[in-house]
Amino acid sequence: MGSRLLVESHKEVEIVCGIVAITSEKLFSVKKDLLFGLKKLEYRGYDSAGFATTEGNYGKEVGDIDNLLRSTQKDFLTKTAISHTRWATHGGVTKQNAHPHFDAKKEVFLVHNGIIENFLELKAALEAKGYIFRTETDTEVIVNFLHDRMKTSKPIDAMRDFMKAAKGTYAVVFFKTGSDKLYAMKKDSPLCLGVSKGRVFVASDIYAFSHETDRVIFFEDYEMAEVSPQGFQFFGMSGPMKKEPVQIQWEREPVIKKHFDHFMLKEICEQPAAVERLLHSLKTTQAKRMGEIADMVRGCKRIFFLACGTSYHAALIGSYLLSRLGFEAHAVIASEFEDFSIIDKDTVVFAVSQSGETMDVITVLKDIKRFNPKIIAIVNYPYSSVHRMADNYIEIMAGQEICVAATKTFTNTLVAIYELARVLRNHIVLDRIPSIIEEVISENESNVKRLAKKLKDKHDIFVLGHRVSYPIAREIALKLKEISYVHAEGMMAGELKHGTIALIEPGVPVIGLVHESNRDRMDSALREVQARGADVYKIGNHSKDFMLPDGLNEEEYSIVSTIIGHLLAYHIAKLNGLPIDKPRNLAKSVTVK
Ligand code: G6P
Repeated sequence: MGSRLLVESHKEVEIVCGIVAITSEKLFSVKKDLLFGLKKLEYRGYDSAGFATTEGNYGKEVGDIDNLLRSTQKDFLTKTAISHTRWATHGGVTKQNAHPHFDAKKEVFLVHNGIIENFLELKAALEAKGYIFRTETDTEVIVNFLHDRMKTSKPIDAMRDFMKAAKGTYAVVFFKTGSDKLYAMKKDSPLCLGVSKGRVFVASDIYAFSHETDRVIFFEDYEMAEVSPQGFQFFGMSGPMKKEPVQIQWEREPVIKKHFDHFMLKEICEQPAAVERLLHSLKTTQAKRMGEIADMVRGCKRIFFLACGTSYHAALIGSYLLSRLGFEAHAVIASEFEDFSIIDKDTVVFAVSQSGETMDVITVLKDIKRFNPKIIAIVNYPYSSVHRMADNYIEIMAGQEICVAATKTFTNTLVAIYELARVLRNHIVLDRIPSIIEEVISENESNVKRLAKKLKDKHDIFVLGHRVSYPIAREIALKLKEISYVHAEGMMAGELKHGTIALIEPGVPVIGLVHESNRDRMDSALREVQARGADVYKIGNHSKDFMLPDGLNEEEYSIVSTIIGHLLAYHIAKLNGLPIDKPRNLAKSVTVK
């Protein structure tokens, strides 16, 4: 895969979730080296974090990695260590449940990403052998299982036994106390190896070591590795296997907040450049691939867009656009895919996932591969799992997004989908988008802040859209929930009168997304709520609330109206003092089902 990869050198970035382990010929610092890499994965979760060194020193703390750094007064120098940032699945957010986990004698320390579905069954068998469990996690089962097997077997055989016995998903790294070797295995959850001089990393993703090496090996399912500072040996279920590193082409830009208070605002404001970069690549390096993908679409019988969260809203727009062009196109939320779909070799599936690691998407892709559909990844991260499972891909080139809530990656996903529609039927102009975004952001700062003040104490907000602005209504409502913690509903304007209008009473805020293409229906829906006393705000031309340039086409409108909605969610959250970049209970990349 000859693609280049945007990555950022994390000089001032706050660091986060996932797995990072290092084994090195020379001593390294837990705080400066290990937790530095871990902080780069914080987007994977920040409920708690921890580390352990092969000397048996360890630390755990509830909260994010900064909290762990603060509570770890002493730094440790070591040659082998593991670390973890957690997004809780089994067991509450407590210090006890934080990783690494270890056996009663502290002979094995282990970190895990994923879910062991049959952990109760495995736990009962280990309890019968005398193992005592001190946490509520499924992970403790893995450490005790391996500890038990390693009494009589080598680590690789113990892992093989575990993979035969376990049901679920896992990326696991562990060491035996006193040894400089790391052991790792993977099924479904991502794991990779970074090979540097005299030092090897094992991590959930490549960003953990992008500052140090560009040589990477990805684990596939049911693969294991024994790793020492001098090298590594991979194993499959039937024996040793040879794997060589691939070379990643990093393109570095610093991830710093600059003068912004939050990464979310920074990422919203850098969209003109992000879109420009994507448009340029779609005309140059990605043009050939886009042509191939358009040919696949032309030759297929049906199209599915598969996605979760914010990416689903972009997927929904994709299904609208391709349906308009005469294709049978559907957008389906990945976790609901199984009951829906006829998949065969004449089906094209667009897997839309900025991270490329969302487990709900990966699970569907694994399942449908047997029907031989053509899979196209739309991702921000080449080399991600979704990309590696696809027949072709579009890289959205947004640059790394630190804030959990997706903003610039949503815009760039839309631009990529619009470009596909443009290639299929030359009817859309996209070139003006960067300058229009710039203008809309700069002209609406005070408008957005004014509305945020009015809405900051509201408990419910309704956002109405029609046609292309319906997915945007849902996207704005999602941001109001995840960032501002306000209950919000993004609705089809026409559906309101069939039920939800019962909730409209004087003073309830309703935001309408009005464009020339949907004006009639939007106007009647907004009149209906106004008649019941709702406070109506419009994002559109001729609106008293926001300034939009005249003559926006639908594509331009969809992007700038989203940006206004994202900014609104941002400013409401800011006024209410909320943790904007790391909202409660969320993770940027959800690698469990
Ligand atoms: C998580 C994030 C959402 C995101 C969704 C899909 O739930 O919190 O912000 O939209 O995953 O992520 P993806 O990486 O697949 O686009």
